[in-house]
Amino acid sequence: MNTIKINPFSPHALVHPGVFQGRDNEISIIEGYLYQTKSGTPQHFIIDGERGIGKSSLFFLLTHIANGSIPYHGQDTFNFLTINTELSVNDTEISIIEKLYKELESLIALDEGLKLKANKFWDFIKTIEVLGCRIHNEKTEPDFAEALTQLVNTIQYLIQDLDETIDGIIFLIDEADRPNIEANLGEFCKLFTEKLIKRNCSNVCIGLAGQKSLRKKLQDSHLSAPRIFAIHSLLPLSPEETIRVIDAGLESATGKNKFEIKITDHAKQILAEMSEGYPHFIQQFAFSAFQADTNNCIDVEDVMSGVFSKGGALDQLGEIIFKEQYFDNIKSDDYRKVLDFMAESQENWVTRKDIINSGIKEKTVDNALSALRSRGIIVPNHKVKGKYKLPTKSFAVWIRALRFQTT
Ligand SMILES: Nc1ncnc2c1ncn2[C@@H]1O[C@H](COP(=O)(O)OP(=O)(O)OP(=O)(O)O)[C@@H](O)[C@H]1O
Ligand SMILES: [Mg+2]
Repeated sequence: MNTIKINPFSPHALVHPGVFQGRDNEISIIEGYLYQTKSGTPQHFIIDGERGIGKSSLFFLLTHIANGSIPYHGQDTFNFLTINTELSVNDTEISIIEKLYKELESLIALDEGLKLKANKFWDFIKTIEVLGCRIHNEKTEPDFAEALTQLVNTIQYLIQDLDETIDGIIFLIDEADRPNIEANLGEFCKLFTEKLIKRNCSNVCIGLAGQKSLRKKLQDSHLSAPRIFAIHSLLPLSPEETIRVIDAGLESATGKNKFEIKITDHAKQILAEMSEGYPHFIQQFAFSAFQADTNNCIDVEDVMSGVFSKGGALDQLGEIIFKEQYFDNIKSDDYRKVLDFMAESQENWVTRKDIINSGIKEKTVDNALSALRSRGIIVPNHKVKGKYKLPTKSFAVWIRALRFQTT
């Protein structure tokens, strides 16, 4: 009989620190940045990478490390005031400042200890019409320079109030690639960090997370903005880390369900192979295999049924990300063959000749390349003419997983 069980895998949510695996190098480096920030020489940073690679989950873990709920280097604890926010396409240069300010204000308001100590901070925001809807009165246009100055003033008072209590302030800004260029995030970061230093608020650090386009957006907003940041790009997890995600998930399921849910080695290996280290894929494939299991031992059959059944893992991933590119926008099976060939070529650029050599007719290849390129389903190599690849590695992994059943 199929008992109802708590599924530990979370394809649509941030991973809980207990189930989080890998990223040891990034964590250790960023712990170093936090340590530097504590001592007054902050190192701002960017975490970038493809969709679903684990940027927000890493930020979630860093929040715990920065605010002291998880020790750093497994020993001491930091005590930073840690502000989390996400940006959106609708953000403007004023709304970004508002978001940071509001998060800061509510964090202080919610912590009784800090709230009592933050006297100058409260006095200051009482005396000026600071930010949020109060940033401008009805008669005046919101002013970026004014808003920025007020944010810096607020932080300065807060640091004076809490100097003895906190290590500093960390701003973790997720989805930083989303606002339009007009939101001027690069300029904000440049001016904000410079003003803070001038005011002796040198224990404040900014971390941004977003897709690869973030660097270019920062640069377009202010030429030297990317230089403020150390940039770390997230890559897929290693096979060992992938296996650990599955093991940690099942261990937590056993704890929560109060009975053991096992997995065969072969099933684990297939989950790891198909997901190729993409955390979103691992969570989705493991979630679906867990759902398909009926005897509390996940085997290869459960994995296959979870991944390939209607509404299963591949459908889920397809619905969210790839289906449009692979099925809806392409009416010809021959064009799909071109994509399949590119998916097999890993991350390498392929030439028109490579594709023709794989057995697809010349004319079809020419038509496919032109159609796929114009729809942004493949990208051309701007340095070497006539070379193409899929826009992301995860798209290739999804196509390969789709074909896994038939191989
Ligand atoms: N280190 C990890 N260990 C285990 N699971 C992870 C890890 N990182 C991310 N995940 C899982 O992978 C999925 C995607 O993670 P997350 O949302 O953090 O990615 P993201 O890069 O922020 O994606 P997006 O670009 O869509 O915002 C989530 O289900 C999360 O639980
Ligand atoms: Mg995210």
